[in-house]
Amino acid sequence: MKDTYILAIESSCDETSMSIIKNGTDDVATIILSQMDTHASFGGVVPEIASRMHVESITMVLDDLLTKANMKLDDVDAIAVTYGPGLIGSLLIGLQCAKTLAMITKKPLIPVHHIAGHIYANNLVKRLEFPLLALVVSGGHTELVYMKEDYSFEKIGGTLDDAVGEAYDKVARVIGIPYPGGPNVDKLAHVGKDSYNLPLPLDDDTYNFSFSGLKSAVINLKHNLDQRGEKVIPEDLATSFQNRVVEILTKKTLKAIKEYNIKHLIVAGGVAANKGLRERLEVLSKENDFELIMPPMKYCTDNAAMIGAAGFYAYQKGRIAGLDLNAKATDKLQ
Ligand code: KG4
Ligand code: ZN
Repeated sequence: MKDTYILAIESSCDETSMSIIKNGTDDVATIILSQMDTHASFGGVVPEIASRMHVESITMVLDDLLTKANMKLDDVDAIAVTYGPGLIGSLLIGLQCAKTLAMITKKPLIPVHHIAGHIYANNLVKRLEFPLLALVVSGGHTELVYMKEDYSFEKIGGTLDDAVGEAYDKVARVIGIPYPGGPNVDKLAHVGKDSYNLPLPLDDDTYNFSFSGLKSAVINLKHNLDQRGEKVIPEDLATSFQNRVVEILTKKTLKAIKEYNIKHLIVAGGVAANKGLRERLEVLSKENDFELIMPPMKYCTDNAAMIGAAGFYAYQKGRIAGLDLNAKATDKLQ
């Protein structure tokens, strides 16, 4: 069978990334230009700055990609792009670039949902087997997704308020840990003790999650200690917070694995980089005999390789967009 090469573009937040993926599984070349250092001085991503930086760098990223892959635009079969969800100004830059490339090369334009991309990052590790359960944990999403086949997404539960990555970032700010909060709280959590009495959030029979109560508990604890003139021990608070997060995420994931008779679990999104979560899931996979696939660090955070992998299967399902495709700040995974 002829090989299929997808040129993919991801610009939904603060990474300008392009990739060429062969047959949905092979990363031929990927370029990721992160704006993290610029946004760090503001304590978070500034949307206006993010979109301007995408404009400045996107053509250079394309040149670098083609050089690295040693390919020409004509060698690719289709153009895949993240159309949403994400920051609207950032999305529009990648989308406009993708539409322009699709127009001048007369190749199909494939719209990819950002979370489908995070899920298919795992396909770059090992070809997915179905049915599977995806634990999606990112800055904007916390969901359990059942997939009976390629590109079929059934959400069985999700957060009722904050996403888990968002809770990490907020807690980091309260404890005084610099941006990016999530990875820094994770690092601290490995040197502290679970000495603070924090609640296990939404410990019920559903597959839903809630992190705002846990976040508020951390904020209240810090305020109470401040008022008493006592100092918070940042590493202990990080450990206590992370233990509750990992416990509830893995508890509900395991319940779903048993109820849906799942043999394959994948983890997706930026929080898939979390060491505490990865370690706990490794143990559970051995104890409960399910296969666990987790993306390597480079595919956990935003990148175009995952969009190219997802784009291949979207293309196979005939999901081709017209040049009137628009960016969406929010959209259901489907
Ligand atoms: O998937 P992602 O790059 O962006 C979204 O699509 O939302 O995820 C970013 C989120 C941020 O909230 C970041 O703090 C969190 O993932 N994150 C982590 C870790 N690495 C990134 N959270 C906890 N532990 C980590 N090691
Ligand atoms: Zn993401």
